[in-house]
Amino acid sequence: MPIIIKSDEEIEIMHEAGRILAEVLELLQAEVRPGLIILDLDTIVKEEYLRRDVVPTFLGYQGYPAHVCVSVNEEIVHGIPGDRALQDGDIVGIDLGLTHKGFVADSALTIGVGQIGQEKQRLIDTTYQSLWAGIRAAQPGARLSDISHAVQTCAEPEGYSLVREYVGHGIGRDMHEDPRVPNFGLPDRGPVLKKGMVLALEPMVNMGDWRTKKHDDGWTVSTLDGSLSAHFEHTVAITEHGPMVLTLRSDEQELAAALEQPAEVRS
Ligand code: MF3
Ligand code: CO
Repeated sequence: MPIIIKSDEEIEIMHEAGRILAEVLELLQAEVRPGLIILDLDTIVKEEYLRRDVVPTFLGYQGYPAHVCVSVNEEIVHGIPGDRALQDGDIVGIDLGLTHKGFVADSALTIGVGQIGQEKQRLIDTTYQSLWAGIRAAQPGARLSDISHAVQTCAEPEGYSLVREYVGHGIGRDMHEDPRVPNFGLPDRGPVLKKGMVLALEPMVNMGDWRTKKHDDGWTVSTLDGSLSAHFEHTVAITEHGPMVLTLRSDEQELAAALEQPAEVRS
């Protein structure tokens, strides 16, 4: 399928969707603490979406039974909220999607529960940096695999591996549109990025091997070797001036502002 180009008006709607999503994700982030029952996050999303009159994109998607995906420790993505309680030292990935005026926004983050050690924090920080390396590569005129390559070359030197069986994606009226956006690969391959493309970039980084396994619940994906995994995701529009993060959170203003600097003065 071709990559669907969005008009300025459509991107503005997706930006509205992204702002609402970021707000709810920040609410969830603030709830995370030892003892929290994961299903409570799902309830919060349900209520906040009703209040904001947006549609839970994940619920019912290919039969997915919840509003949010919550993936703990060696779980990579697509964890189903249940009665498990978060524990001190866990790392937890929260992945959220919503549909607003017919357009989807998709974003995820990973945070520590209570006190986590340096080793876990380094995995989280590196995964976040690899997302932003991918975002910085999402320039009009660059090619798709420049994003993939930027993500990979950020995380691999730290000794981590990039999940291969799950990838980022185009996003718009559908949550998953073309193109697929792998988190590894050689640069300068694939379609040229153009104004009006919108991509969900989502590196999944494992401390150990990149291989995965799916649980019997049909959804939860874990590392095959049981090592920890982290996941971050943003919905990003390609504009004539460069990448624009539609799901930006309030703590990310500075990173976004730096995107507007010419490449030479960027650190
Ligand atoms: N962010 C995930 C993705 O892009 C969310 C999908 S979960 C599902 O694939 F339940 F909706 F499938
Ligand atoms: Co996604």
